[in-house]
Amino acid sequence: MGKRIVVLASGSGSNLQALLDHESTAEHVVAVLSDRNHAGALHRAAGAGLPAQAVPFGDHQGRAEWASELAAHVATYAPDLLVLAGFMRILPAAFVERWPTLNVHPSLLPAFPGGRAVESALAWGVKLTGATVHFVDEQVDHGPIVAQEAVPVRENDDEASLHARIQAVEHRLLPEAADLFCRGRLAVEGRHVRILP
Ligand code: GAR
Repeated sequence: MGKRIVVLASGSGSNLQALLDHESTAEHVVAVLSDRNHAGALHRAAGAGLPAQAVPFGDHQGRAEWASELAAHVATYAPDLLVLAGFMRILPAAFVERWPTLNVHPSLLPAFPGGRAVESALAWGVKLTGATVHFVDEQVDHGPIVAQEAVPVRENDDEASLHARIQAVEHRLLPEAADLFCRGRLAVEGRHVRILP
């Protein structure tokens, strides 16, 4: 089994599915947690026979209380790595200092950080956007970049069509990055991530 991955997801869970469909990454995923009760990702996890639990943000007094309950759940699975697969909440610094964390983001960071990356890229009129997988640090969508790939914007794109093509890239980059981590092949040196042979 080796390294243990806990996945955090808020949405439909297509990136979680990509992790579960990846030949070597799948066996490392030990649990899925969400900030939303009915996240599709939780259904996918349960379908795969994995522990799946929501820690809803709204049930708590504030971010600190919510984050400490989430951290308590994460800790029970003793992960080596957290993967944010469409997780739409900001984690406090204590989280990412405790566990190495990968995030997938639908733009070529540092362009368009935040929750509306695809919409913002279209509004800006860029001709190229893409997907980024990066280590999470204490700032939003900011940590050292593991993998990036460009996706051209088409003349007739809307948010759904562009996001679908970006997600097809995410589904490849995220499991590959998690796999490299599990094999001990990612070396972080400041802002730079080297892929070891
Ligand atoms: C993904 O496209 C991911 O890049 C995005 O949420 C989507 C979740 O889809 N994340 C962000 O925007 C983070 N800032 P999924 O639930 O189908 O994996």
